[in-house]
Amino acid sequence: MKAFKDAVALVTGAASGIGLGLAERFAAEGMHVVLVDIEQAALDAAEQQLGDALALGGGKAMTAVADVSDWAAMEALAETVKARFGGVDVLCNNAGVPGGRGPIWQKPVAQWQWVFGVNLMGVIHGIKAFVPDMIERGRPGHIVNTSSVYGLTTGLDTSDYGVSKHAVRRLTEGLYFELRAARAEHLGVSLLCPGLTATRIISGDRNRPDDLSEAASIDPDVQARIRAEESMYLQRGMSPSETADYVVRAMQERQFYVVTHPDHLKTMAAQVDDLVQGRSPRLPDHQLNWLDHWPLNTA
Ligand SMILES: NC(=O)c1ccc[n+]([C@@H]2O[C@H](COP(=O)([O-])OP(=O)(O)OC[C@H]3O[C@@H](n4cnc5c(N)ncnc54)[C@H](O)[C@@H]3O)[C@@H](O)[C@H]2O)c1
Repeated sequence: MKAFKDAVALVTGAASGIGLGLAERFAAEGMHVVLVDIEQAALDAAEQQLGDALALGGGKAMTAVADVSDWAAMEALAETVKARFGGVDVLCNNAGVPGGRGPIWQKPVAQWQWVFGVNLMGVIHGIKAFVPDMIERGRPGHIVNTSSVYGLTTGLDTSDYGVSKHAVRRLTEGLYFELRAARAEHLGVSLLCPGLTATRIISGDRNRPDDLSEAASIDPDVQARIRAEESMYLQRGMSPSETADYVVRAMQERQFYVVTHPDHLKTMAAQVDDLVQGRSPRLPDHQLNWLDHWPLNTA
């Protein structure tokens, strides 16, 4: 996709973090931007924050509160956006929530349902709600699905998150093949795999629905460690605007894999080599000393 001016971009999880970084960058490029999120107050603040970028680019913004895990809400959103802008040219299925701590066998079923509902079904709903119209309209466009470096590698902890992100990778690779088979050459596809990024993903529990609250009953020590981890993300992570630069470049160059922290590819290559050589999986180097202390020291 080469021309961004006056194209319509829809970003889920746009009220903060990477989604907001994408929305700001798209607005500065002259695109109309639809910001979708579950958090109304954060969405209002994001719309305000977008003011300068919109003034620079000349596009319009629309905000919509929607839960990406709710198919009916996403279907209704597609109709609203169609009525307002005629459709979507750039679709970023980006909304995501963090994984739970501790062993797979102890994780509440509600935790798995929440993480899969948002991180995986949210992406599927986005594709189902918007891609058929993107194919039919025949306009140059791009679909960006947000996975993670944890969608490329395997390790200890937050297994629910990692499994959901591996699934997004498989889904997006499949989408790429299927659009080629459908001769939808006007649509590019990218899989965004961020590494550590300066956002509030770690405290994503703030968006947990009440009916899945069983999983939220974690002890105060773990909560305190989560807060510490969040400040580490905010201090040491890549800025969302830099992540947005990677995405825009990938859209321009039709690059599929967008890996912002390529060091993780070494871990991925070593893990694939284990598979090819018939060895058991290895931990990433930075987790090698976790086995004796996990799960307590990992938050
Ligand atoms: N921050 C990182 O280090 C990192 C690394 C790899 C991947 N990611 C991925 O990047 C994406 C964006 O996360 P972020 O880091 O910007 O975190 P963030 O918490 O700042 O942003 C996530 C946004 O998604 C929204 N959201 C949560 N549940 C939703 C739902 N059900 N429906 C609609 N919106 C919902 C939140 O309100 C929030 O605004 C996620 O998919 C995340 O998994 C982040």
